[in-house]
Amino acid sequence: MQSMKYILPALILASVVACSSEKPPIYEATPDSLYKGSLYYASSEYNCKSCHGTQWDGNGPEAKNLEKDGIKVPSFTDATPPEVTPVDYFKAMTVGTANTKTLPSGHAFQSHTDRGRWAMANFLYSLAPAVATKDQAKRQEAMTKAMEEAKQAYSESRRWNMGFVPLAERPKSPKLEDMKGYNPVPSQQ
Ligand code: HEC
Repeated sequence: MQSMKYILPALILASVVACSSEKPPIYEATPDSLYKGSLYYASSEYNCKSCHGTQWDGNGPEAKNLEKDGIKVPSFTDATPPEVTPVDYFKAMTVGTANTKTLPSGHAFQSHTDRGRWAMANFLYSLAPAVATKDQAKRQEAMTKAMEEAKQAYSESRRWNMGFVPLAERPKSPKLEDMKGYNPVPSQQ
């Protein structure tokens, strides 16, 4: 078997490459996640555009109806206060906000995966103009704190906590091997 001479080194090389190109954490904005976020927003079953608009400015057709009920749909292309971070955006579309409780969806879009919601959160957040120079330190501080929170949450569980249980009391997700139906080696027939 002459070809075996090549297969083994190739396998070793492939696993070294796989280990060294570690994926960035799911809450990190990368060109790839931002691009995907734009697609998810445009195609979501929750029809983000109906409220937030095709130009992301909060002028979707449904926004006018909500306004009658005193609910204002925000624009993603306006400046955001320096203390607001993508984590706030992620939470708004994961558990909803006080202002979205009456919407049928509750604005909790949990049929999107955590990765999908992060992609949309980071994409929408990237649409706002850069923060003013005088506010940059405040924004930096908020970002550092927010990313620490995300890192901590995902060190505890593979999913963001959907309720309001303090971090220390959250149940840990089971190990992959213990999950029902987990079978890494296809059975030999
Ligand atoms: C029925 C209308 C409606 C739909 C559909 C909708 N949203 Fe929203 N969204 C709102 C309203 C209203 C708010 C403001 C909530 C508040 O003021 O607390 C909001 C807030 C947000 C925020 C927080 C923005 C901020 O400035 O804090 C994000 C992020 C967001 N929406 C993303 C999405 C995404 C992504 C989708 C689709 C998956 C979506 N929304 C679908 C009405 C909607």
